[in-house]
Amino acid sequence: MKCLRSFLAVLCLVALWALPALAQDKIKVGFLVKQAEEPWFQTEWAFADKAGADLGLEIIKIAIPDGEKTLNAIDTLAASGAKGFVICVPDTKLGPAVKRKADSYGLKVIAVDDQFVNAKGEPMSEVPLVMMAASEIGAIQGNELWKEMQKRGWKPEETAVMAITAEELETARLRTSGSIEALIKAGFPEDRIYKVPTKSNDIPGALDAGNALLARYPDVKNWLIVGMNDNTVLGGVRATEGQRIPPANVIAIGINGVDAVNELGKPNVTGFLGSLLPSPDVHGYKSVAMLNDWIVKGVEPPLFTAITDAVLITRDNYKVELEKKGL
Ligand code: GLA
Repeated sequence: MKCLRSFLAVLCLVALWALPALAQDKIKVGFLVKQAEEPWFQTEWAFADKAGADLGLEIIKIAIPDGEKTLNAIDTLAASGAKGFVICVPDTKLGPAVKRKADSYGLKVIAVDDQFVNAKGEPMSEVPLVMMAASEIGAIQGNELWKEMQKRGWKPEETAVMAITAEELETARLRTSGSIEALIKAGFPEDRIYKVPTKSNDIPGALDAGNALLARYPDVKNWLIVGMNDNTVLGGVRATEGQRIPPANVIAIGINGVDAVNELGKPNVTGFLGSLLPSPDVHGYKSVAMLNDWIVKGVEPPLFTAITDAVLITRDNYKVELEKKGL
C-alpha cells in the first residue's frame, strides 16, 4: 500500500514537471495579414486559432500593413522558433523577398488570399496558395446585380455600372472582370460599364474613385456597383450618397460578407443590397492545417487550393447565414 502511494506520488510529480514542458513544446506558426482591421482577416485569425487549438499549435498573429513590418515579422517568427507561417502580403510584389527570407530561416510558407508575384509581375505558383475562386465569385456578383436590376425593371439605357478596380492585385482583377463578363453575358450594354481604379483598398480610396466617376457621368439615373470586396463597394455606395443619388437607384453587392455586417444592420436601407460571403473560416483553418501537415508529417500542400462556395447575404438572412458558419 505504502509502496503504491509513493509510486502515485512520484507519478504526480513527473506529470507536474512534464505538463509545462509539453506546453512549451508546442510548434509555433505565424499567421500574418495585411489588413488586420478588416473583419475578413480577423475571421481568418479566429479560425487559425481554432485550428491551432485542435492541432496543438501556437499561432503567432502579426499585422503586416507594409513591407518593412512584413520582413520584421518574419525575423520575429524565426527568433521565436516558429517553423513556418501563413501570409497575406500587403503588396504581392513582396513575394520574392518574403520567400527568400523564409528560406534563409528554413521557414515553410503558405500564401493566403493574395498570390505572390515575382520581379516580372508573374504569379509565383511555386508557393502554395489558398485563395477564393475569384472569377467564379465575381461572376455571382454580376449575375446577382443583373437579377436585382431586372426585378426593379430598370432600363439599360438609364443604368450604368460603376466598376471600382484594383488591377494590380490579381484576385481583385479576376473578381471584377468575372463580374463584368457575367453582366455582359446576361445582356448589359458593354459601353455603359465604366471602370475607375482605386488608389487604396479601403473605403476612403474607393470613395474617391467613385466620386471621380460620378462627376464624369452626371446624367445616369441608376447605378450598379461592382468591386473586389465589401469596402470597395461600400466606398462606391458612399460616393452615390454624397451625390444625393437616392438609395433606390443604386444596387451594390460586395464580396467578403463579414465586412458588411455593420452596413446590413443599419436601420436605414442603403444602396448596398448585400454581400457574397465566401469562407474566411475555411481559409484560416485549412491553411494552418496544411502547414501543420507539412511541418509535422512532411506532407507538402497542393500548390493551389481554390475555395469556391459563396452565399449572398442580405438584410433578411445575414444573421442566419453567418451563424450557420459559426461566425
Ligand atoms: C483580398 C482582399 C480581402 C479579401 C481577400 C479574400 O486580400 O483584400 O478583402 O477579399 O482578398 O481572399
